[in-house]
Amino acid sequence: MKVDVVLGLQWGDEGKGKIVDVLAKNYPVICRFQGGPNAGHSLQFSGKSFVLHSVPAGVFRKNTVNVIGNGVVLDPVIFQEECQAIAKMGVDPTKNIIISKRAHLILPTHRVMDAASEASLGKAKIGSTLKGITPTYTDKTARKGLRVGDVLAPDFKKRYDSLRQKHLETLKQFGFEYLKGKVKSQDAALEFDLKTMETEWMKAIDYLKKFRIVDGEYELNSMLATKKALAEGAQGTMLDVDFGAYPFVTSSSTICAGACTGLGVAPGKIGKVYGVFKAYCTRVGSGPFPTELSDAVGEEIRQKGHEFGATTGRPRRTGWLDLPALKFAIMVDGVTDLIMMKADVLDTFDTIKVAVGYKVNGKKTDRYPFDTAAVIEPVYKEFKGWKKDLTKCKSGAELPAAFKRYIAFIEKELGVKITYVSVGPDRSQTIKL
Ligand code: GDP
Ligand code: IMO
Ligand code: MG
Repeated sequence: MKVDVVLGLQWGDEGKGKIVDVLAKNYPVICRFQGGPNAGHSLQFSGKSFVLHSVPAGVFRKNTVNVIGNGVVLDPVIFQEECQAIAKMGVDPTKNIIISKRAHLILPTHRVMDAASEASLGKAKIGSTLKGITPTYTDKTARKGLRVGDVLAPDFKKRYDSLRQKHLETLKQFGFEYLKGKVKSQDAALEFDLKTMETEWMKAIDYLKKFRIVDGEYELNSMLATKKALAEGAQGTMLDVDFGAYPFVTSSSTICAGACTGLGVAPGKIGKVYGVFKAYCTRVGSGPFPTELSDAVGEEIRQKGHEFGATTGRPRRTGWLDLPALKFAIMVDGVTDLIMMKADVLDTFDTIKVAVGYKVNGKKTDRYPFDTAAVIEPVYKEFKGWKKDLTKCKSGAELPAAFKRYIAFIEKELGVKITYVSVGPDRSQTIKL
């Protein structure tokens, strides 16, 4: 059987968590394949809401196996907190989550290094979530990292100490010193109680050992003999390490191909590719954002869409829908089905704009530019707002005509059908077209 994939097509926070939770009722296996606790995936059902960071969004569905794949970077402390919160919802996470031995561990010093690196960049900072993502993936590709499977080795502590020592050396180059269990920057603007962080981390490693730590690629491929799986992307295509506006990206492969390398499934096993996008755009952190609105309209979208980070609480930058960027994402991901989220946020708008092309450094184009310093001016098409409360719509037939015209235009431009429209944060507010 196949692995279907859910991907964010923009700059993250498209609503992947909600849609995976909705689709999960049809999939016995749900997998995360990249990213780590930089992700914040919100779910809402039966009057309860929940934000997941490392755990796949199938965890609340009965009889699902939730796989944390080899491509993920795992912070045991955040994972433990998350699992304990899941347990309070009456689900035993040790029974329905399995973790690949090959997933890399985020160490306390990775988090300090993330902060040190961002501080050193000053105004040019990436706007990282400060969860240690980049230093952990750096160690992975530099072949120095510690993996989940290593926690079972008798010399794990020794290997931990050795890597931590290397990190403290690197931190010295950033002007940080380690003294009496604390790591401090020269100007003392940043200080970390490393000793306490490490005690917590080691306790969380013991907790991690309660889970089934497996050869994820073997487990998944053998489950695929009889079961279909859904892979849940984190971040978004425009934050991909290769195809995002580098260096304003995350450090993993957020595109469809990342599901193959991050789980150990062959390209031929990929089935449907669900591309999730908001009816507008948001971005957290630095980097180009062609359709960004720094005016009252942008603020209205932020307030109505509650556009504040699920992981960091930072206000998200907001802007109009960007079709050239979406076309780019659909091309690199091979999207077969589109899912539009949060159109209800635009319910009260008189006019809704959509970027249909760009002028890059004054020249008309429909291509997303390589150069992050390029001046991108969007070319807009305007639509009359539908001025109806979409959150109450239960079926395609109830959707207003002006909204249908808007989505028909988007489908035609993108050349892919929109198969679901989400009209509110709750599991029930999802319309299959
Ligand atoms: P993810 O990272 O892609 O899972 O998305 P986030 O959870 O970070 O951000 C999406 C936010 O939008 C969350 O607060 C969701 O509860 C909310 N949301 C999801 N779908 C809809 C929708 O269709 N309408 C509205 N108004 N909110 C939604
Ligand atoms: P989900 O899965 C939105 C952004 C950060 C920063 C850049 C690099 O919830 O959609 P990192 O911590 O990865 O080194 O930060 O990427 N970023 C996200 N933005 N949603 C996310 O995840 C993100 N994960 C990282 O804001 O700009
Ligand atoms: Mg999010």
